[in-house]
Amino acid sequence: MINKIVLAGGCFWGIEAFFNQLDGVIEVVSGYANSQVKGPAYMEVKTQKTGAVEAVKITYDDSVVALSKIFDYLFRVIDMTALNHQGGDYGNQYRTGIYFENEAEQELALSKIKQEQAKYAEKIAIEVVPLKNFYLAEDYHQKYLEKNPDGYCHINLEQIDQKDKKMDKVSVYEEILLVLDGLLNEKLSSISMMGNLTALLKEHFNTFSWVGFYHSNDHELYLGTFQGKVACETIAFNRGVCGQAFTSQKSVIVKDVHAFPGHIACDSSSNSEIVLPLFNKHNKIVGVFDVDSYRYANFDNVDELFLTKILKKLQPYLD
Ligand code: SME
Repeated sequence: MINKIVLAGGCFWGIEAFFNQLDGVIEVVSGYANSQVKGPAYMEVKTQKTGAVEAVKITYDDSVVALSKIFDYLFRVIDMTALNHQGGDYGNQYRTGIYFENEAEQELALSKIKQEQAKYAEKIAIEVVPLKNFYLAEDYHQKYLEKNPDGYCHINLEQIDQKDKKMDKVSVYEEILLVLDGLLNEKLSSISMMGNLTALLKEHFNTFSWVGFYHSNDHELYLGTFQGKVACETIAFNRGVCGQAFTSQKSVIVKDVHAFPGHIACDSSSNSEIVLPLFNKHNKIVGVFDVDSYRYANFDNVDELFLTKILKKLQPYLD
């Protein structure tokens, strides 16, 4: 399930960048939590008169990363006993906190802090209070350390275990593109090449549940080569994510297939998907390429970019 939690650990630039590395985290945004004024600006927050705290809102898939692990990482990177102060920053906007939205989150936070307390002589300063509000911070604060790699950061971003890190999709796709060059050849049948492409992707990404092609005839889409569970043999042009990608001739990314009206559930273990239009060597649309994932929100513009590149390589071989 997709969940959200608001946390504060000092300057949001570093906290945002840190949690963005964690596998299972779908999105992290920087903002101001529990402000007494509506939509405070950074300059107002700095005056310490708004009561707002620099915080991040983390969207995560709890089947990949448990809230308990997210709390553990917060505890690892912050100074647990510092009050209104983290790193080089001082002021109540730099207090640390867990801002819960239900009892389960509150109980978990309190019980974990109680356990942690045994390790410290001083009192842990993390506040555990209900989330009253969260206002997005100004654009320049979002992904600040990506935009400013040498920017100020009060925490050590390396304090994440290798096993908990998101996979580096870009390098995996780059490798796939290299291998694909060796698999494409005008002497081969397009079916053989498409079959191998589905295998190549499925083999490299264990998060992919289904990878395959649907081709068009004059009245519907029909199943082509694929890797994964048995799938629907035909799909009407106006049905499902595949139908939408085919008729719009544009990629469609669905973060939660259960919330997509008209999604055709071929495989119950699929939770998100991306479907791209498939063009032949005459630039005519001839079908779609569908990739499904066990995970929620598994696909973004990086997948779209690389899968488009991959299909472009295949295009000259398609009649
Ligand atoms: N989910 C697709 C159908 C194809 S299967 O996922 C393999 C859709 O809604 O179009």
